[in-house]
Amino acid sequence: MSKSYQPIGVFDSGYGGLTIFKELLRELPQYDYIYLGDNARNPYGTRSFEVVYEYTRQAVFQLFEQGCRLVVLACNTASAKALRNIQQIDLPVTFPARRVLGVIRPSVEMIPDMTKTGHVGVLGTNGTVISESYPMEIAKISPNNPIFVTQVACPMWVPIVENNLIESPGAAFFVKQNLDELFGKDPLIDTVILGCTHYPLLTKVIRQYLPNGVQLMTQGAIVAERLKDYLIRHPEMELDCSKSGRREFFTTESPDNFDQLANLFLGSEVKSKHIKLG
Ligand code: DGL
Repeated sequence: MSKSYQPIGVFDSGYGGLTIFKELLRELPQYDYIYLGDNARNPYGTRSFEVVYEYTRQAVFQLFEQGCRLVVLACNTASAKALRNIQQIDLPVTFPARRVLGVIRPSVEMIPDMTKTGHVGVLGTNGTVISESYPMEIAKISPNNPIFVTQVACPMWVPIVENNLIESPGAAFFVKQNLDELFGKDPLIDTVILGCTHYPLLTKVIRQYLPNGVQLMTQGAIVAERLKDYLIRHPEMELDCSKSGRREFFTTESPDNFDQLANLFLGSEVKSKHIKLG
């Protein structure tokens, strides 16, 4: 691959990162991108810290090998469990000139301006919830005005999305169950963070069961906006990112399956290639 081809890498355990990718394409269409979905090994949300770190590391290194200087972890679970290690252990030793960014911090930074009651709900995978990343980051961002955070893990939502069961009665059942649990724990919540990039694909059904007046935060537009800021603040990186509007897709599962759902989610033709990680 020529040195002048330096796409932005976008990684997720599967299809969820496409909800971020879609907004990156809308906000920053000029860049080249490689999307990588580890569909064969997801869900990540139920896996241990060590496994999510190892899988994410393999994916990031693969994207580096393909020329990316900048990778966005379009996955909360990977951001919660692998980002810090990759930034603090791997990059300084192996790839000091490359950067990896996550999705949790940009989302959390919006929270103080969004909530009026100071009560926020977080829906995420088991891994994200157990990591306590959201409550910790929210506490850091608003030290003088404590925000009350209630988390609920929704382990069925990712398999529902990955299997394209979004419109099924099962989807409605599990969405209602998890939202009832969240608002049963704290009825004062006025802002719900969809802390998993797969969940926006369920927005229609989530809105059906969300109490009136509660705001739903999806991450795509926020992450795109923050990436734009980042590139403005790092002109040396921005200059290196190649800009011919090229998009490549890789999946660790069957490309045919990937393309079908990816087309649906992105609203444009996707032709992915198979890739093996690890
Ligand atoms: N999309 C990922 C996230 O944002 C999780 C999906 C999974 O469990 O694999 O957390």
